Amino acid sequence: ATTRYEAEASPAVCTGTIDSNWAGFSGSGFCNGDNGTSAYAQFTVNASAAGTATLKVRFANGTTSARAANIVVNGSTTGTASFEGTGAWDTWATKTLTVPLRSGSNTVRLSPTTSGGLPNIDYVDVETGDGNPQPTG
Ligand code: GCU
Ligand code: CA
Repeated sequence: ATTRYEAEASPAVCTGTIDSNWAGFSGSGFCNGDNGTSAYAQFTVNASAAGTATLKVRFANGTTSARAANIVVNGSTTGTASFEGTGAWDTWATKTLTVPLRSGSNTVRLSPTTSGGLPNIDYVDVETGDGNPQPTG
């Protein structure tokens, strides 16, 4: 099943402001993270079983430089992402990531690793493989 988690909807956390000045976002706004490595966007996502989930992060980056981030799941960095320039702040794109989730509630944090911070983040769509246990061993 795929569930959408909007960046502006609690319990999501945006270290910055929820803005709506760039068109094309879903819901009522998007996360404009502060420009710096300590800012982040965090989502609380649910999985009915432990396993690998596919995350689709909708973002816009109106600069010509990619903005990089660590993907931090339940406090551990599980991967990285590079959010390339999309051409304009009102041009949105989707970045697909794979993350390991545990059964129940998980936090997924996009934690920027360069001084530009994150791109603007609209939402994440999380597709969990219900009933597909994570391989052990
Ligand atoms: C501009 C833009 C913001 C964006 C910011 C940034 O100020 O209006 O939406 O977040 O650049 O560089 O991060
Ligand atoms: Ca910003």
